[in-house]
Amino acid sequence: MRFEKILVTGGSGRLGRFIAEELKDRARVTTFDVAPGTPAFPHITGDICDLAGLMKTFKGFDAIVHVGAIDGHKEVPPEDYIRVNAFGTWNVLHAAFENGVKKVIASSSSAVCGLNIAEKEMPPHYLPMDEAHPQRPRYSYGLSKYMDEITAESFARRGTMEVVTIRPSYVLFPELVAHTAKRVSAPDRGLYRLTGAEAEKVPEAFRERLGIVRAYVEPGDLARLYRLALEAKLKTHEIFQGVAADTYEPEPTLSFFKGIYGTVPPVRKPEVYEKNPHASTFDCTKAREMLGWEPTSDWVKLSGLKRR
Ligand SMILES: NC(=O)c1ccc[n+]([C@@H]2O[C@H](COP(=O)([O-])OP(=O)(O)OC[C@H]3O[C@@H](n4cnc5c(N)ncnc54)[C@H](O)[C@@H]3O)[C@@H](O)[C@H]2O)c1
Repeated sequence: MRFEKILVTGGSGRLGRFIAEELKDRARVTTFDVAPGTPAFPHITGDICDLAGLMKTFKGFDAIVHVGAIDGHKEVPPEDYIRVNAFGTWNVLHAAFENGVKKVIASSSSAVCGLNIAEKEMPPHYLPMDEAHPQRPRYSYGLSKYMDEITAESFARRGTMEVVTIRPSYVLFPELVAHTAKRVSAPDRGLYRLTGAEAEKVPEAFRERLGIVRAYVEPGDLARLYRLALEAKLKTHEIFQGVAADTYEPEPTLSFFKGIYGTVPPVRKPEVYEKNPHASTFDCTKAREMLGWEPTSDWVKLSGLKRR
C-alpha cells in the first residue's frame, strides 16, 4: 500500500523521529506531538487527549502512525498511563475512522506480557514467546498497552480502516547502549529501578529497570518494521512483535531464566537456543513470514561486551 500524507503522532519523541526519517522518502510526513517539532518535518502541536482537535487535524491524511504515548520509562501517576495511552489511542482511532484515514499503525509494548522483577512468580508459559502467548499485565502502563491492542482490533473489525499493532520490546536508542551495558553487568543486573542519589545522577530514561525478558530492539530495525507494516496489505488486525534476535544478557537465555525462576519454562523451539544460546525470549517469526522483517542488530557488536 502507498500513502501520500502520513501523520506520525509522538513524532517529536525518540521512536517517532526514527519512524519519520524512515518514511520521509516515500510520502509527505508531518509530525504531531504535545512537544515542539524539529525543523526536519512540518509539525502540528496537539494532544491526543483532545478529540475535537484530532477531528480537525486528521483531515486529509491517508495514514497515521501512532506512537504518541507516555512511555513506561516515565515516572507518572498510574492513572496518567490509562488516560493518555488508552483513551488517547481510542481518540486517535476514532478521529482517523471518522476522517476516512485508510490505515493506522498502533503501538503496544512487550510490557503486556507482564514480565518484570515483580512477576518472578509468573514465569512465561513457554519460550520463545510469540504473539499468541497469554498477556498478563498487572500495572497500568502494560494494561494501557493491552487496552490499545484491544481497541485497535475493535476498529479494524469494522472493515473499512486497516489497523496494525506493533509490539516492541525495550528500544535500545543509541544513548542507552553504554548505560544498558553497564547496568546489565552490575551486581543487581539492572533488574531494579534506580532510586535515590543514584537515580538523581542520570536522566529519567536511564533509571528504568531492565526487564526479566532481557529483550531489546534497535530503533532503526523497529522503524523499518513500522514501515513494512504500513506498506503491507493485511486482511485483519495483526499484532507484530518487534524484538532483536538476541538478548543483551551476558548469560545464555535459558540458564538466565533457570537462575530467576529455579526452572526453565517449556521450550517450544529448542533449535532456536541450540543454534544461538543467547537467542531472544521472543519469537518474531510472524513479522518475518508476513512482512519480510529481519532484525539486524547484534548486542555484542553494539555494546562491545563479552557473553558468558
Ligand atoms: N521506548 C521503549 O523502550 C518502548 C518499548 C515498547 C513500546 N514503546 C512505545 O513506543 C512509543 C514511542 O515511545 P518512545 O520511546 O519514543 O517514547 P518518548 O517518550 O520518547 O516519545 C513519546 C512521545 O509522545 C508524546 N506524547 C506524550 N503524550 C502525548 C499526548 N497526550 N499527545 C500527543 N503526544 C504525546 C511525547 O511528547 C513524546 O514526544 C510509545 O507508544 C511507547 O509506549 C516504547
